Amino acid sequence: MEFHHPIVAAPMAGGPSSNELARAVASTGALGFLGGGNKTAQQIVEDYRSVADAGAVGVNLFVPDAANTAVDVAKSSAQRGEKLAAFREQLMPFAERLGVELPTVEQAGEDVSDDWDAKLEAAVEWPIVTFTFGLPAPAVFQRLHASDTQVGVTITSVAEAHNAVAHGADFLVVQGPEAGGHRSVHDPLGEPETLELPALLDDVNAVVDVPFVAAGGIATPEDVRDVLAHGASAASVGTALLLSDEAGSNPVHRQMLQEDRSGVTQLTRVYSGRVSRSLVNEFMSLTAPAVYPEVNALTVPIKRAAIQARDPRSTHLFAGTRYLQAKTGPAAEIVEWLAGNRHKE
Ligand SMILES: Cc1cc2nc3c(=O)[nH]c(=O)nc-3n(C[C@H](O)[C@H](O)[C@H](O)COP(=O)(O)O)c2cc1C
Repeated sequence: MEFHHPIVAAPMAGGPSSNELARAVASTGALGFLGGGNKTAQQIVEDYRSVADAGAVGVNLFVPDAANTAVDVAKSSAQRGEKLAAFREQLMPFAERLGVELPTVEQAGEDVSDDWDAKLEAAVEWPIVTFTFGLPAPAVFQRLHASDTQVGVTITSVAEAHNAVAHGADFLVVQGPEAGGHRSVHDPLGEPETLELPALLDDVNAVVDVPFVAAGGIATPEDVRDVLAHGASAASVGTALLLSDEAGSNPVHRQMLQEDRSGVTQLTRVYSGRVSRSLVNEFMSLTAPAVYPEVNALTVPIKRAAIQARDPRSTHLFAGTRYLQAKTGPAAEIVEWLAGNRHKE
């Protein structure tokens, strides 16, 4: 896998990674990405048709527990139902305030496969695919390689990097603790690595011989130069594009990224059961069990209604540690600025 431009647009499911954003990024020669995580297999097929002529664009998939070789089934299934029932109780006041019905615990557990097989079939059309949240079996890599798809894995530790290369990854996305949105920790019960991105890059560089992209808290041209100096082939930027014209970030997310000048972000499992980094709000005072994707399914009606009502108290406001640096304007200008090719106010 070769990276011809120092910038990659990080995949951001749930709206921000719009087709327009991917096209704008790819128009600069940088690598655009779409998030396939919250989409159906059919949408992933349609997405490919709508960006195939745009330049280099990849798609990102979440690895469900059933396909994740890093899951200890006995541990992660222990008392799942009880933990979810207790969490659902905590959600009731938020649901009542927004006037929404929550799914039952059983309903929340109905779609845990996330249409994985069909999504993989859709992914073979794409030139580049990355996996997040886990490590699929080597046969999955072989299937994608057979259709000339380059496969990347988002890793958060040296051990995950090792395993990903052993399974057949062509490249890695090394995600540091600064990153906005979900951490791609492969063990769903595992606590995320705290080693800062430059040190993690050095450690990964010392043990793998595939190219790697750096992600997490990269917000300025200096940050980009810094990760390249630590061996990365490119810098993957998420939060830095959230306020761009083409991003599909919802209005309440855009508003809070600009209004909340505290500079404070925190980790939480409350939005999905997986650890994610967000601006701090009332919803994050709840404690969710490490049960993904059921926690996501339980919280979806609240998050959706809160976005609709423009209520920042109970929806995810994903942001990396350097969100105060995020710029508004056309995405192509932001990408060229980050790459060191143009000045930006
Ligand atoms: C709003 C948002 C949504 C995200 N969604 C995904 C996703 O669908 N898949 C994924 O691998 N990473 C996702 N991430 C993480 C990014 O791909 C990337 O690792 C992160 O944005 C890098 O850190 P930064 O936000 O500080 O640039 C998301 C991040 C944000 C901010």
